Amino acid sequence: MDKNQKLKSLNEKWTAECVCELKKTATQAVPGVGSANAEIVFIGEAPGRSEDKQGEPFVGAAGKFLNEMLNLIGIKREDIYITNIVKYRPPNNRDPLPEEKAACREWLLTELQIISPKLIIFLGRHAMNNFFPDLQISGAHGKLLIKQFKNMPTKYFFPLYHPAAALYDGSMREILINDFKKIPEVLRRIEKEKIETGV
Ligand code: URA
Repeated sequence: MDKNQKLKSLNEKWTAECVCELKKTATQAVPGVGSANAEIVFIGEAPGRSEDKQGEPFVGAAGKFLNEMLNLIGIKREDIYITNIVKYRPPNNRDPLPEEKAACREWLLTELQIISPKLIIFLGRHAMNNFFPDLQISGAHGKLLIKQFKNMPTKYFFPLYHPAAALYDGSMREILINDFKKIPEVLRRIEKEKIETGV
C-alpha cells in the first residue's frame, strides 16, 4: 500500500469506528486533506460550520486566509496536508473537551506517522497544547520547537496564532503573517540541521 492508500483507509476506518461524542451532533467527519507526501502538516483545532457542511478542513473564512498566506510564501495547498486535532465539529464551535481530543488522538498520530512530515505547524493554542501543554501561544508563536516525542515522525514544530483569531484583529493578523513568512527559512534550517547531524 502506498502512503495515499494508507491515509485513505485510515480515514475510512476511523470515520466508521471513532467513538467521539461529537459524532452525535456533527453532520459528518472532517478528515485531513492534502498530499500524503507533504513536507509540512498543518494542525488546526476542530471543524467549524463550513467544514462540517463540506467535510473538508479549513474551507471557511479562516481557510481562505490560510490560502492567502500560503500564496504569499509560494506554497501550494495541494503540496501540504491539513488536519485538525478533533475531526468533528463541536456544537456552536465551542472548545473541544479533553475527552474529545483524546478520542481523536490516535487518528491524528497515525496520520502523522503515515505522512512523516519534515515540519508540523500548529494553527492556534489548542493544537499546540495538545503536544506542548505547558506553553503559551503568546510566547511560543513563530519560534521553532525541537522535541523528540515517542512514536512521532518529526521533532520539528512551529506554532502560529490561529487564522480565525487573527482574521479580524489587525495586530494579531500582522504577527501571523510575519510568522508565516518565516516558514521557508524554518524548512531550510531543518534541512541544514539534518545534514549536519545526520538525523
Ligand atoms: N478552524 C479549525 O481549527 N479547523 C478548521 O478546519 C476550520 C477552522
